[in-house]
Amino acid sequence: MAAPLVDAEYLRQIDRARRGLRALIASKGCAPIMLRLAWHDAGTYDVNTRTGGANGSIRYEEEYTHGSNAGLKIAIDLLDPIKAKCPKITYADLYQLAGVVAVEVTGGPTIEFVPGRRDSSVCPREGRLPDAKRGAPHLRDIFYRMGLTDKDIVALSGGHSLGKAHPERSGFDGAWTKDPLKFDNSYFLELLKGESEGLLKLPTDKALLDDPEFRRYVELYAKDEDTFFKDYAESHKKLSELGFTPR
Ligand code: HEM
Repeated sequence: MAAPLVDAEYLRQIDRARRGLRALIASKGCAPIMLRLAWHDAGTYDVNTRTGGANGSIRYEEEYTHGSNAGLKIAIDLLDPIKAKCPKITYADLYQLAGVVAVEVTGGPTIEFVPGRRDSSVCPREGRLPDAKRGAPHLRDIFYRMGLTDKDIVALSGGHSLGKAHPERSGFDGAWTKDPLKFDNSYFLELLKGESEGLLKLPTDKALLDDPEFRRYVELYAKDEDTFFKDYAESHKKLSELGFTPR
């Protein structure tokens, strides 16, 4: 599909969507699932074939029914009324804006948002997102395919400072941190503490401790929240622009 024309009216609708997202997230407490939706739309990108990415294709049944997207139809439906009020905005922009606002309103860093993503009706094949049961080599395979780095992998994993796993969606259960509606560096602090009663650690979370290159960043982000916020904001912007070249 053609790139949207980002004119003054488009920008006004982006502002309106931002306000709508803040209100929606505050009233429904849905920041975590909005962040997960943004990540799962963007994280299918393949830098070699230039397919997938932040293109709104997750709105189609063919894609949101992929096993790794279980539950995300809830987020897609919650955003429909905002799309109706801001019809010029592409789904691709709306989903990435939702991820950016979710991080901001829960106390995380401000992430620069550049509008203009195209929508696509081509869904990637299942299997491009990471499998939580695997280790560091798998994480590298998946994130390098997106064109991202070791630092991006660790910084973005800090997204698990928000939300929780649901047994009926992923088979895992529980939150990573004590306050899953607050975006901070507690994911890294809990990871370094080791097993703690009631908190979740996926095999892919634990892989960040076992690999020395990853662990360096885990220790840095646990010690220094400002550096985590700065790096997270950069990595999240990259994630949100996979497959998109701003004009
Ligand atoms: C939830 C895996 C990276 C944000 C989950 C869940 C799994 C998972 C299994 C539970 C889903 C459920 O049962 O509802 C992974 C793996 C990753 C990864 C293997 C590889 C590193 C990320 C990234 C972000 C992110 C990069 C965002 C920057 C979230 C959020 C939730 C979540 C916010 C909570 C959703 C909710 O509460 O409904 N992830 N994830 N994850 N993930 Fe990840």
